[in-house]
Amino acid sequence: MSTYSAEVKRVTTHTLQEMKNRNEKISMLTAYDFSLAKIVDEAGIDAILVGDSASNVMAGHETTLPITLEQMIYHASSVVRAVKRALVVVDMPFGTYQGNSTEALKSAIKIMKESGGHAVKMEGGQEIKESVVRILSAGIPVMGHLGLTPQSIYKFGTYTVRAKEEQEAERLIEDAKMLSDLGCFGLVLEKIPAHLAKKVAETIQIPVIGIGAGNEVDGQILVLHDMLGINKEFKPRFLRRYADLHTIILSGIKQYVDDVRKIDFPNEKEQY
Ligand code: KIV
Repeated sequence: MSTYSAEVKRVTTHTLQEMKNRNEKISMLTAYDFSLAKIVDEAGIDAILVGDSASNVMAGHETTLPITLEQMIYHASSVVRAVKRALVVVDMPFGTYQGNSTEALKSAIKIMKESGGHAVKMEGGQEIKESVVRILSAGIPVMGHLGLTPQSIYKFGTYTVRAKEEQEAERLIEDAKMLSDLGCFGLVLEKIPAHLAKKVAETIQIPVIGIGAGNEVDGQILVLHDMLGINKEFKPRFLRRYADLHTIILSGIKQYVDDVRKIDFPNEKEQY
């Protein structure tokens, strides 16, 4: 029996596939906590990624590598409690699926059981095939992630655009086809040439969600804190800022500090 609210029709992996089939664009954002996830969901987003970018955005690490399975589950369960409509996808953190497929399956099951998320996302192609197959066969929806895969940053050495050379582009197309054929429900393409992303979206059946991959894919994803302008330092070319929350939050807090110092807050109406 379902406990979902009768008024809200939940977005599922099938909804996203139908959207691609109808040529309707899919909107996706990251979220890591209850309060912001609630607003993101209320705004009508189709899918939320509890990204391992939480490692950078929430914890201040330089890379996504340090975040643990338990920390991802904490973030994901907070998001799940807030969301009424969007599909919630949870990143499998570095080190929880690359070792072997048994370990990968165990990690994915832990995420699904303890966070209540609806799907997992994994970075990589051929090299993680066995783990993808195992997780899918347990009935867990998997989203792939190719192009710039931040968990491999020490292999790449930089965060620059991937797959500009023909050989890497061909390999990416092969990996995308493989993930689609295995039964993944979607694929994130990060920071690759727009013409390549277009080709992938036209070639494979499943929805392709881009970040820095142009607009001829099936949908877009951005990191929430970047697009809301909470993080001011990160300024890649693909990022559009939709708000300047850094300035708004800073000025609100400065005003509060000032009011406390001048004993203007609390006033008579704000006390008992
Ligand atoms: O962790 C993350 O935020 C991501 C997106 C950039 C796609 O993987």
